[in-house]
Amino acid sequence: MHVFIVYAHPSEGSFTHSILEAFVDGLAESDHSYEISDLYEMNFKTDLDLAEYERESGREKNRDIPEDVKLEQEKINRSDALVLIYPLWWSDCPAKMKGWFDRVYSRGFAYECENEQHMGSHMKVKKALVICAAGHSVEHLEEIGIIKSMRTVMVNDRLIGVGAEQAEMVVLGGTISGEKGGRERNLKKAFDLGKNI
Ligand SMILES: Cc1cc2nc3c(=O)[nH]c(=O)nc-3n(C[C@H](O)[C@H](O)[C@H](O)COP(=O)(O)O)c2cc1C
Repeated sequence: MHVFIVYAHPSEGSFTHSILEAFVDGLAESDHSYEISDLYEMNFKTDLDLAEYERESGREKNRDIPEDVKLEQEKINRSDALVLIYPLWWSDCPAKMKGWFDRVYSRGFAYECENEQHMGSHMKVKKALVICAAGHSVEHLEEIGIIKSMRTVMVNDRLIGVGAEQAEMVVLGGTISGEKGGRERNLKKAFDLGKNI
């Protein structure tokens, strides 16, 4: 299987980076190939500019897609699985990743729109996986309704909603509690997710 990982965290010393490394080790264990878009390292432009807005809003439908966006779209369509790895920041992904969706999920690629009706997607995603590192425990995030909202937005809208055949979200929580063994348990889980993708 060829896996495309979209990763957003500014620090190599972060726990989220350790999760990325564990996941990739798991992929290697099962001989899967992979490529990573490390959005901070690439300095990926993540704010939709006026020209892009005019294209997406349908005012200038025939405007070209920017080259950096085309490259990301090609990575999606040549992969068997799309994996998103990020820390939970204010109950969502970092702005760096949100902007990746804004730009890469362009009209004619992630959706077609005619007369206000969504007409389907040209994205080819057989399998999608979201791995999110969270400071709070999964139990707490379930209790306050955040997991449900994350799943609605990230899985139902940004993955299944654009044609992913299958999508799953795993929250590796409790990173700020310092619970004994929590870090190792989360890293083992990330490794297994890679190994068994
Ligand atoms: C700007 C910011 C916002 C955060 N917001 C949340 C949040 O809404 N919920 C939560 O559980 N943790 C939150 N955290 C904690 C991170 O999710 C947690 O530190 C991260 O998953 C693991 O740490 P890392 O930065 O070393 O990868 C936030 C952290 C930062 C820096």
